[in-house]
Amino acid sequence: EHSMLSDTHGRHHNYLRISLTERCNLRCVYCMPEDGVDLQPQSKMINQQEILRLASMFVDAGVDKIRLTGGEPLVRKDLPDIVRALSSLEGVRNVGVTTNGINLKRKIPALREAGLTHINVSLDTLQPDRFAAITRRKGLDTVLASLDAALAHGYGGRLKINCVVMNGVNTDELADFLEFTRDQEIDVRFIEWMPFDDNRWKDAKFFSYQSMLDVIRERYPDLERTVDSANDTTKWHRVPGYRGRVGFITSMSEHFCGTCNRLRITSDGNLKVCLFGDESLSLRDALRGGLSDAEISVLVRAAVLGKRAALGGHGDMYGIANAKNRPMTTIGG
Ligand code: GTP
Ligand code: 5AD
Ligand code: SF4
Repeated sequence: EHSMLSDTHGRHHNYLRISLTERCNLRCVYCMPEDGVDLQPQSKMINQQEILRLASMFVDAGVDKIRLTGGEPLVRKDLPDIVRALSSLEGVRNVGVTTNGINLKRKIPALREAGLTHINVSLDTLQPDRFAAITRRKGLDTVLASLDAALAHGYGGRLKINCVVMNGVNTDELADFLEFTRDQEIDVRFIEWMPFDDNRWKDAKFFSYQSMLDVIRERYPDLERTVDSANDTTKWHRVPGYRGRVGFITSMSEHFCGTCNRLRITSDGNLKVCLFGDESLSLRDALRGGLSDAEISVLVRAAVLGKRAALGGHGDMYGIANAKNRPMTTIGG
């Protein structure tokens, strides 16, 4: 059955990302237009029951890792219920969440109790005024308190910070971020900024992996490259003697499509076989049309077989950016 989620390029998809909502309590400039996105009516969103039915079909087909994204997944009141149901599916090894950290401190006891295994927190600056400029909201202290709470609840070694790096915005803070990794089991990842609709992507604001390494090595000349696991999006490093790791997600300058193991379900129920791919299959409509699990599996298999070898990388993403890809907040990253 495992072959159901294999493609024509030898990739096996065991990692499912589910976007739980388009809504978000921040308005990050690289993610969303200022006024937010036009939210679709609730009826177009897949509900909890549909999410769980789809997830269990994918798990039966070999998925063992699920990440819940958004928008901001913690704005959903039923998030702990979803986590509990997903983590109790036979074969699921980990259930993670990618969050902006605003509501995390408050929700973490319930999430842990429900079986949440991994947490990624988006944080692009450690300066309050910049935080307000980037997210168009306040909340830096709240996010920092959430990171402490995650460590206090045992997420050390399973906690990452995602920092989107933008030239002229936060490139002078990379070394500051590394200090998180000195005494704490937190992994910091710097992400190359990617183009999406309405996110003001410009060449001049792009800051490459190589440039990041150059800046960091000025203060940490002995930064060392460590090993990555098989399907990692991240090129891992470490400052010798520091507890946490430092990684780079190089979607633009050195894409990692060759080892992609990821499939996505958008909050309105479309299957996205690639972050930059189209969304030709509505799983929502298939479910609501009364199709059986077996019939839906046939559609999923066909979509996975249509997955392109690569859409990451500078050239290709330019092309896609000029075409149409929805704002990040509706895809879930
Ligand atoms: P881990 O499971 O902790 O490794 O997380 P992750 O990197 O899979 O997920 P996360 O939600 O933390 O995403 C971090 C960044 O990686 C975001 O900017 C994502 O858009 C990007 N990313 C994740 N998967 C892919 C992918 O398949 N292709 C590309 N180009 N970027 C990806
Ligand atoms: N480029 C790169 N990463 C992005 N994210 C959101 N928008 C972009 C973008 N344009 C990140 C968020 C979050 C993750 C899911 O994706 O910061 O950590
Ligand atoms: Fe910012 Fe994440 Fe919300 Fe986008 S989804 S606006 S990156 S917090």
